[in-house]
Amino acid sequence: MIITVDGPAAAGKGTLSQKLADKYNLAYFDTGMIYRAVGLMMLQNSFDLNDVASAENMAAQLSFSKMLELSKDKDFRSAVGGKAASVVSSYSGVRARLLDMQRNFAKNPLFADGKPASGVIYDGRDTGTVVCPHADVKFFITASPEVRAQRRYDEFLQRGGDMSFQEVLKDVIARDERDANRKDAPMIPAEDAILLDTSAMSIDEVFQKAVAFIEEKLK
Ligand code: DC
Repeated sequence: MIITVDGPAAAGKGTLSQKLADKYNLAYFDTGMIYRAVGLMMLQNSFDLNDVASAENMAAQLSFSKMLELSKDKDFRSAVGGKAASVVSSYSGVRARLLDMQRNFAKNPLFADGKPASGVIYDGRDTGTVVCPHADVKFFITASPEVRAQRRYDEFLQRGGDMSFQEVLKDVIARDERDANRKDAPMIPAEDAILLDTSAMSIDEVFQKAVAFIEEKLK
């Protein structure tokens, strides 16, 4: 089984995907990690983020194991890393070079411990439209920018970050704009995606709703 969960930053995709992966025993691919990895490679090599050719070159050099190694870096999940990921992800040449890596995962899905899995859950922006248009079940998760910014802000506070709520909100809105205006893979729901607005829903409510849709589909 292949499930895709797309939507904007901090809409709750990661939490939902992980819970679904546990329930249905699926491998999980957080596709934002590949763009974070390329963004971090740009920063580590002191390349200008506007240098498209270097970003394409970094993307071409990225492997799954390199991505996992980079994910241990302190900047991988930081605001700086997120901005770099957002910029490089807007380049069509970068996206094209990272497509096979994402698609190949479904051919041979693995759990984090390296054991084979019978299916995969993708979490991203374009996984139901571009990466895996033939997925069995597709979700598109949204929430208002204010609700998403509040969730991000709470996470930053827990990790000891020092951004204000207003800065986080500004960042969420800027990322939405970049995601929505990408030429090749704008962040739009697949035609056959199930839309879930999580603004006024608890994590458990979102999970229960998603499970109900999957069960219906599996009948
Ligand atoms: O989900 P995230 O915050 O880790 O994603 C980091 C960046 O990567 C984000 O700005 C959007 C981009 N991204 C993308 O363009 N396509 C995806 N499938 C996943 C993430």
